[in-house]
Amino acid sequence: MAKHIFGGPDTSRKLRCLQEYLRAFSIALRNQQFECVYIDAFAGSGSRTEVRPALPLLGGEFAESQEVTTPGSARIAIDTDPPLHSIVLIEEDPTRFAELERLAGEYPGRDITVEKGDANKHVQRLCTQIAWRQRKPGIRGTRGVIFLDPYGMEVSWQTVEAIAKTEALDCWLFFPLSGLYRNAPRDPARLDAGKQASLDRVLGTTDWREKWYDHETAPRDIFETREQATRRADVDAIERYVKERLLTAFKGAVLDPIRLHHKNGAPLASLFFAVSNTSPAAVKLATQIASHILMRGRSSHS
Ligand SMILES: C[S@@+](CC[C@H](N)C(=O)[O-])C[C@H]1O[C@@H](n2cnc3c(N)ncnc32)[C@H](O)[C@@H]1O
Repeated sequence: MAKHIFGGPDTSRKLRCLQEYLRAFSIALRNQQFECVYIDAFAGSGSRTEVRPALPLLGGEFAESQEVTTPGSARIAIDTDPPLHSIVLIEEDPTRFAELERLAGEYPGRDITVEKGDANKHVQRLCTQIAWRQRKPGIRGTRGVIFLDPYGMEVSWQTVEAIAKTEALDCWLFFPLSGLYRNAPRDPARLDAGKQASLDRVLGTTDWREKWYDHETAPRDIFETREQATRRADVDAIERYVKERLLTAFKGAVLDPIRLHHKNGAPLASLFFAVSNTSPAAVKLATQIASHILMRGRSSHS
Protein backbone atom coordinates (compact mmCIF):
# COMPACT_ATOMS: atom_id res chain seq x y z
CA MET A 1 0.00 0.00 0.00
CA ALA A 2 1.43 3.41 -1.02
CA LYS A 3 1.60 5.80 1.90
CA HIS A 4 0.10 9.27 1.58
CA ILE A 5 1.99 11.42 4.05
CA PHE A 6 0.31 14.79 4.39
CA GLY A 7 -1.10 17.32 6.80
CA GLY A 8 -0.06 18.93 10.02
CA PRO A 9 -1.27 19.32 13.55
CA ASP A 10 -4.74 20.48 12.47
CA THR A 11 -5.49 17.86 9.83
CA SER A 12 -7.34 15.58 12.21
CA ARG A 13 -9.50 18.55 13.28
CA LYS A 14 -10.45 19.14 9.66
CA LEU A 15 -11.27 15.47 9.04
CA ARG A 16 -13.26 15.27 12.27
CA CYS A 17 -15.49 18.13 11.05
CA LEU A 18 -16.12 16.25 7.80
CA GLN A 19 -16.78 12.95 9.58
CA GLU A 20 -19.25 14.47 12.03
CA TYR A 21 -21.07 16.38 9.31
CA LEU A 22 -21.41 13.37 6.99
CA ARG A 23 -22.87 11.29 9.79
CA ALA A 24 -25.36 13.98 10.82
CA PHE A 25 -26.27 14.71 7.18
CA SER A 26 -26.87 11.05 6.46
CA ILE A 27 -29.05 10.63 9.55
CA ALA A 28 -31.03 13.80 8.80
CA LEU A 29 -31.79 12.80 5.22
CA ARG A 30 -32.37 9.10 5.93
CA ASN A 31 -36.14 9.30 5.67
CA GLN A 32 -36.37 12.02 3.05
CA GLN A 33 -36.97 11.62 -0.66
CA PHE A 34 -33.43 12.36 -1.77
CA GLU A 35 -30.48 10.47 -3.15
CA CYS A 36 -27.47 11.45 -1.00
CA VAL A 37 -24.20 11.86 -2.85
CA TYR A 38 -20.75 12.66 -1.47
CA ILE A 39 -18.13 14.13 -3.78
CA ASP A 40 -14.49 14.10 -2.63
CA ALA A 41 -12.76 16.36 -5.14
CA PHE A 42 -9.19 15.91 -3.81
CA ALA A 43 -9.63 12.44 -2.43
CA GLY A 44 -6.01 11.40 -1.77
CA SER A 45 -5.53 7.65 -1.27
CA GLY A 46 -8.15 6.84 1.36
CA SER A 47 -5.70 6.96 4.22
CA ARG A 48 -3.37 9.41 5.85
CA THR A 49 0.06 8.70 7.25
CA GLU A 50 1.43 11.09 9.80
CA VAL A 51 5.01 11.05 11.02
CA ARG A 52 5.00 11.80 14.75
CA PRO A 53 8.35 13.30 15.79
CA ALA A 54 10.75 11.60 18.20
CA LEU A 55 9.99 12.46 21.81
CA PRO A 56 12.66 13.12 24.45
CA LEU A 57 12.95 10.40 27.09
CA LEU A 58 14.44 10.57 30.56
CA GLY A 59 18.25 10.37 30.48
CA GLY A 60 18.64 12.52 27.35
CA GLU A 61 17.58 9.76 24.95
CA PHE A 62 14.94 10.03 22.25
CA ALA A 63 12.16 7.59 21.36
CA GLU A 64 12.05 6.88 17.61
CA SER A 65 9.71 8.88 15.41
CA GLN A 66 6.52 6.99 14.64
CA GLU A 67 4.39 6.61 11.53
CA VAL A 68 0.68 6.51 12.28
CA THR A 69 -1.88 5.72 9.55
CA THR A 70 -5.51 6.77 9.97
CA PRO A 71 -8.52 6.97 7.59
CA GLY A 72 -8.47 9.81 5.08
CA SER A 73 -11.58 11.58 3.78
CA ALA A 74 -12.51 8.87 1.23
CA ARG A 75 -12.55 6.08 3.78
CA ILE A 76 -14.33 8.29 6.31
CA ALA A 77 -17.10 8.85 3.74
CA ILE A 78 -17.37 5.16 2.86
CA ASP A 79 -17.58 4.24 6.55
CA THR A 80 -20.33 6.80 7.28
CA ASP A 81 -23.27 5.16 9.01
CA PRO A 82 -26.02 5.23 7.82
CA PRO A 83 -24.30 4.87 4.44
CA LEU A 84 -24.44 7.58 1.79
CA HIS A 85 -26.18 6.38 -1.39
CA SER A 86 -23.34 7.22 -3.75
CA ILE A 87 -19.76 8.41 -3.50
CA VAL A 88 -17.54 10.03 -6.13
CA LEU A 89 -13.79 10.13 -5.48
CA ILE A 90 -11.61 12.34 -7.69
CA GLU A 91 -7.82 12.19 -7.71
CA GLU A 92 -5.17 13.34 -10.17
CA ASP A 93 -2.15 11.45 -8.87
CA PRO A 94 -1.90 7.98 -10.53
CA THR A 95 -0.61 6.14 -7.45
CA ARG A 96 -3.27 7.54 -5.15
CA PHE A 97 -5.92 6.99 -7.83
CA ALA A 98 -4.91 3.28 -7.92
CA GLU A 99 -5.24 3.14 -4.11
CA LEU A 100 -8.75 4.60 -4.37
CA GLU A 101 -9.73 2.01 -7.00
CA ARG A 102 -8.48 -0.71 -4.67
CA LEU A 103 -10.45 0.84 -1.79
CA ALA A 104 -13.66 1.02 -3.87
CA GLY A 105 -13.10 -2.62 -4.85
CA GLU A 106 -13.39 -3.59 -1.16
CA TYR A 107 -17.08 -2.55 -1.33
CA PRO A 108 -18.55 -4.33 -4.38
CA GLY A 109 -22.19 -3.64 -3.38
CA ARG A 110 -21.71 0.11 -2.99
CA ASP A 111 -22.13 2.88 -5.58
CA ILE A 112 -18.58 4.28 -5.52
CA THR A 113 -17.13 5.95 -8.62
CA VAL A 114 -13.44 6.82 -8.87
CA GLU A 115 -12.49 9.53 -11.37
CA LYS A 116 -8.93 10.25 -12.48
CA GLY A 117 -7.82 13.75 -13.42
CA ASP A 118 -8.32 17.38 -12.58
CA ALA A 119 -10.88 18.05 -9.85
CA ASN A 120 -12.01 21.35 -11.39
CA LYS A 121 -12.95 19.65 -14.63
CA HIS A 122 -14.75 16.72 -12.98
CA VAL A 123 -16.61 18.81 -10.39
CA GLN A 124 -17.82 21.32 -12.97
CA ARG A 125 -19.08 18.44 -15.15
CA LEU A 126 -20.82 16.68 -12.25
CA CYS A 127 -22.47 19.88 -11.09
CA THR A 128 -24.19 20.32 -14.44
CA GLN A 129 -24.75 16.61 -15.19
CA ILE A 130 -26.46 15.37 -12.02
CA ALA A 131 -30.25 15.84 -11.91
CA TRP A 132 -30.24 17.66 -8.55
CA ARG A 133 -33.85 18.75 -8.55
CA GLN A 134 -36.03 16.22 -10.27
CA ARG A 135 -39.58 17.44 -10.60
CA LYS A 136 -40.95 14.23 -12.16
CA PRO A 137 -43.28 12.15 -9.99
CA GLY A 138 -41.66 9.02 -8.62
CA ILE A 139 -38.10 10.22 -9.31
CA ARG A 140 -36.08 11.44 -6.37
CA GLY A 141 -33.92 14.54 -6.42
CA THR A 142 -30.31 14.46 -5.25
CA ARG A 143 -28.65 16.31 -2.43
CA GLY A 144 -25.13 16.00 -1.23
CA VAL A 145 -21.93 17.11 0.40
CA ILE A 146 -18.74 18.07 -1.41
CA PHE A 147 -15.30 18.27 0.20
CA LEU A 148 -12.65 20.44 -1.45
CA ASP A 149 -9.35 19.60 0.22
CA PRO A 150 -6.52 20.74 -2.06
CA TYR A 151 -2.88 21.11 -1.04
CA GLY A 152 -2.97 24.78 -2.03
CA MET A 153 -4.35 27.04 -4.75
CA GLU A 154 -5.78 24.29 -7.01
CA VAL A 155 -9.50 25.17 -6.77
CA SER A 156 -10.62 27.69 -9.38
CA TRP A 157 -13.45 30.14 -8.65
CA GLN A 158 -15.39 28.64 -11.59
CA THR A 159 -15.57 25.40 -9.62
CA VAL A 160 -16.86 27.20 -6.51
CA GLU A 161 -19.53 28.89 -8.65
CA ALA A 162 -20.55 25.59 -10.29
CA ILE A 163 -21.06 24.03 -6.82
CA ALA A 164 -23.08 27.02 -5.62
CA LYS A 165 -25.33 26.87 -8.68
CA THR A 166 -26.44 23.29 -7.93
CA GLU A 167 -28.47 24.62 -4.96
CA ALA A 168 -28.17 21.07 -3.67
CA LEU A 169 -24.63 20.69 -2.31
CA ASP A 170 -23.28 21.55 1.13
CA CYS A 171 -19.62 22.39 0.78
CA TRP A 172 -16.67 21.95 3.13
CA LEU A 173 -13.88 24.02 1.63
CA PHE A 174 -10.24 24.17 2.71
CA PHE A 175 -9.30 27.69 1.56
CA PRO A 176 -5.51 28.14 1.32
CA LEU A 177 -4.81 31.27 3.39
CA SER A 178 -1.05 30.85 3.20
CA GLY A 179 -1.27 30.54 -0.59
CA LEU A 180 -3.17 33.83 -0.64
CA TYR A 181 -0.83 35.83 1.52
CA ARG A 182 2.28 34.36 -0.13
CA ASN A 183 0.96 35.34 -3.54
CA ALA A 184 0.13 38.84 -2.27
CA PRO A 185 3.44 40.12 -0.86
CA ARG A 186 3.36 43.28 1.25
CA ASP A 187 5.72 44.91 -1.25
CA PRO A 188 3.82 45.10 -4.57
CA ALA A 189 7.11 45.19 -6.48
CA ARG A 190 7.18 41.43 -5.80
CA LEU A 191 3.61 40.94 -7.04
CA ASP A 192 4.46 39.47 -10.44
CA ALA A 193 2.03 38.53 -13.23
CA GLY A 194 2.02 34.83 -12.25
CA LYS A 195 1.02 35.62 -8.64
CA GLN A 196 -1.71 37.99 -9.79
CA ALA A 197 -3.14 35.42 -12.21
CA SER A 198 -3.15 32.78 -9.51
CA LEU A 199 -5.08 35.04 -7.09
CA ASP A 200 -7.53 36.08 -9.82
CA ARG A 201 -8.21 32.41 -10.60
CA VAL A 202 -8.81 31.37 -7.00
CA LEU A 203 -10.83 34.46 -6.03
CA GLY A 204 -12.67 34.93 -9.33
CA THR A 205 -12.19 38.68 -9.32
CA THR A 206 -9.51 41.34 -9.61
CA ASP A 207 -10.82 43.70 -6.90
CA TRP A 208 -8.49 42.26 -4.23
CA ARG A 209 -5.85 44.64 -5.67
CA GLU A 210 -7.81 47.68 -4.45
CA LYS A 211 -9.17 46.03 -1.31
CA TRP A 212 -5.89 44.62 0.03
CA TYR A 213 -3.45 47.33 -1.05
CA ASP A 214 -3.21 50.98 -0.07
CA HIS A 215 -2.37 53.04 -3.13
CA GLU A 216 -0.95 56.50 -2.72
CA THR A 217 0.84 58.95 -4.94
CA ALA A 218 4.14 59.99 -3.39
CA PRO A 219 6.40 62.80 -4.63
CA ARG A 220 9.66 61.51 -6.14
CA ASP A 221 11.01 65.05 -6.57
CA ILE A 222 9.37 68.36 -7.37
CA PHE A 223 8.70 67.40 -11.01
CA GLU A 224 7.66 63.76 -10.68
CA THR A 225 5.31 61.62 -8.64
CA ARG A 226 5.16 57.84 -8.30
CA GLU A 227 2.47 55.39 -7.36
CA GLN A 228 3.28 53.65 -4.08
CA ALA A 229 1.38 50.75 -2.60
CA THR A 230 1.64 48.35 0.31
CA ARG A 231 -0.60 45.50 1.34
CA ARG A 232 -2.47 46.62 4.42
CA ALA A 233 -4.80 43.60 4.58
CA ASP A 234 -3.57 41.20 7.23
CA VAL A 235 -4.51 37.52 7.43
CA ASP A 236 -7.75 38.29 9.30
CA ALA A 237 -8.78 40.81 6.65
CA ILE A 238 -7.92 38.35 3.87
CA GLU A 239 -10.04 35.67 5.56
CA ARG A 240 -12.97 38.12 5.89
CA TYR A 241 -12.59 38.98 2.22
CA VAL A 242 -12.75 35.28 1.27
CA LYS A 243 -15.96 34.91 3.27
CA GLU A 244 -17.47 37.90 1.43
CA ARG A 245 -16.49 36.34 -1.90
CA LEU A 246 -18.09 33.01 -0.94
CA LEU A 247 -21.27 34.86 0.07
CA THR A 248 -21.55 36.23 -3.47
CA ALA A 249 -21.84 32.67 -4.78
CA PHE A 250 -23.54 30.64 -2.02
CA LYS A 251 -27.06 31.96 -1.56
CA GLY A 252 -27.87 29.64 1.38
CA ALA A 253 -25.20 30.47 3.95
CA VAL A 254 -21.47 30.74 4.59
CA LEU A 255 -20.36 30.18 8.19
CA ASP A 256 -17.33 31.67 9.92
CA PRO A 257 -14.42 29.31 9.29
CA ILE A 258 -12.03 27.44 11.53
CA ARG A 259 -8.43 28.62 11.15
CA LEU A 260 -5.92 25.81 10.57
CA HIS A 261 -2.20 26.26 11.21
CA HIS A 262 1.20 25.02 10.04
CA LYS A 263 3.45 23.15 12.49
CA ASN A 264 5.24 26.44 13.23
CA GLY A 265 1.95 28.16 14.14
CA ALA A 266 1.66 30.24 10.96
CA PRO A 267 -1.86 30.41 9.43
CA LEU A 268 -2.32 27.68 6.84
CA ALA A 269 -5.95 27.67 5.76
CA SER A 270 -9.52 28.45 6.64
CA LEU A 271 -12.01 25.61 6.71
CA PHE A 272 -15.28 27.08 5.44
CA PHE A 273 -18.74 25.57 5.37
CA ALA A 274 -21.14 26.88 2.74
CA VAL A 275 -24.69 25.95 1.78
CA SER A 276 -25.83 26.23 -1.82
CA ASN A 277 -29.43 25.21 -1.13
CA THR A 278 -31.77 28.19 -0.74
CA SER A 279 -34.69 26.40 0.93
CA PRO A 280 -35.04 27.87 4.45
CA ALA A 281 -35.56 24.42 5.98
CA ALA A 282 -32.43 22.99 4.31
CA VAL A 283 -30.34 26.04 5.28
CA LYS A 284 -31.54 25.87 8.88
CA LEU A 285 -30.75 22.18 9.21
CA ALA A 286 -27.32 22.38 7.55
CA THR A 287 -26.19 25.47 9.45
CA GLN A 288 -27.40 24.16 12.81
CA ILE A 289 -25.37 20.97 12.38
CA ALA A 290 -22.29 22.65 10.93
CA SER A 291 -22.23 25.54 13.45
CA HIS A 292 -22.15 23.05 16.27
CA ILE A 293 -19.34 21.07 14.61
CA LEU A 294 -17.32 24.20 13.85
CA MET A 295 -17.75 25.49 17.39
CA ARG A 296 -16.43 22.21 18.80
CA GLY A 297 -13.63 22.23 16.21
CA ARG A 298 -12.60 25.75 17.28
CA SER A 299 -12.22 24.77 20.91
CA SER A 300 -10.61 21.37 20.33
CA HIS A 301 -6.93 20.68 19.84
CA SER A 302 -5.68 17.79 17.77
C1 LIG B 1 -4.49 17.32 0.93
S1 LIG B 1 -4.55 15.99 -0.17
C2 LIG B 1 -6.17 15.36 0.09
C3 LIG B 1 -6.28 14.48 1.27
C4 LIG B 1 -7.60 13.76 1.39
N1 LIG B 1 -8.71 14.67 1.43
C5 LIG B 1 -7.60 12.86 2.63
O1 LIG B 1 -8.17 13.26 3.66
O2 LIG B 1 -7.02 11.79 2.55
C6 LIG B 1 -4.73 16.72 -1.73
C7 LIG B 1 -4.89 15.70 -2.86
O3 LIG B 1 -5.28 16.37 -4.05
C8 LIG B 1 -4.62 15.79 -5.16
N2 LIG B 1 -4.64 16.82 -6.21
C9 LIG B 1 -3.86 17.93 -6.34
N3 LIG B 1 -4.25 18.67 -7.39
C10 LIG B 1 -5.33 18.03 -7.91
C11 LIG B 1 -6.20 18.34 -8.98
N4 LIG B 1 -6.06 19.46 -9.72
N5 LIG B 1 -7.21 17.49 -9.25
C12 LIG B 1 -7.38 16.37 -8.51
N6 LIG B 1 -6.59 16.02 -7.48
C13 LIG B 1 -5.58 16.86 -7.18
C14 LIG B 1 -3.26 15.43 -4.63
O4 LIG B 1 -2.68 14.40 -5.43
C15 LIG B 1 -3.60 14.96 -3.22
O5 LIG B 1 -3.83 13.58 -3.19
